[in-house]
Amino acid sequence: MSRKTILRYTSNQRTNHWLVAIVFFMAGLSGLALFHPALFWLSNLFGGGPWTRILHPFMGVVMFVLFLGLVFRFWRANYFIANDRLWLRRIDRVMRNEEEGVPAIGKYNPGQKLLFWTLLLCMLGLLLTGLVIWRAYFSDYFGITTIRWAMLLHALAGFVLILCIIVHIYAGIWIKGSVSAMMHGRVSRAWAKKHHELWYREVTRDEAPQPPIRKKG
Ligand code: HEM
Repeated sequence: MSRKTILRYTSNQRTNHWLVAIVFFMAGLSGLALFHPALFWLSNLFGGGPWTRILHPFMGVVMFVLFLGLVFRFWRANYFIANDRLWLRRIDRVMRNEEEGVPAIGKYNPGQKLLFWTLLLCMLGLLLTGLVIWRAYFSDYFGITTIRWAMLLHALAGFVLILCIIVHIYAGIWIKGSVSAMMHGRVSRAWAKKHHELWYREVTRDEAPQPPIRKKG
């Protein structure tokens, strides 16, 4: 089984990812409940308005801390490499599922990498602005103008984060085998070669037949 498949995510990485996903939905839904009266009914999920207001910032902090776990695990694999620029220029071919002329890529494609860094930016933005508007503990340290700007930027960062996750989920479903990789940890060799050829070559290098050792004399 393990000779035929390749490990893409360890169980710790998967647990970390799905915890982030769960807390993201909780923080997102409670945030939307506070964002607009038309969405206030969502606060019923969290025990009503006051509880939603109390819990939302804590969920946000938990989400940020768990997300940092993903950053420490994956930042290296999200560094841009030489082929990425060409891949982005040929994005139309990628969208049409064409393989010709599309350069081989590493563990993540440049779209995933851009998304990764945008997620990090949104998370940092949400944390910083969230602290400023956290009435119970920190808002007293800031003036009203700062608080108003922070509220605006908090909503903007939340909006971009939700959009990013919609794209992320769509892409995960679009590339068959990705969700299963995040659920079970392994991918087929064919999947790895087709979608992330450089990564495939890297992880299978050790298995390549070694040149025979010649005896001296
Ligand atoms: C129901 C929600 C979600 C689904 C279905 C989902 C699905 C996936 C899948 C299939 C992968 C593997 C992609 C691959 O190996 O090529 C992945 C990776 C990843 N996901 Fe999610 N995800 C969800 C929510 C989230 C959330 C909320 C975050 C963070 C805010 C997140 C952050 C990441 C990161 C950082 C990676 C690694 C990819 C990279 O570093 O570029 N995911 N996700």
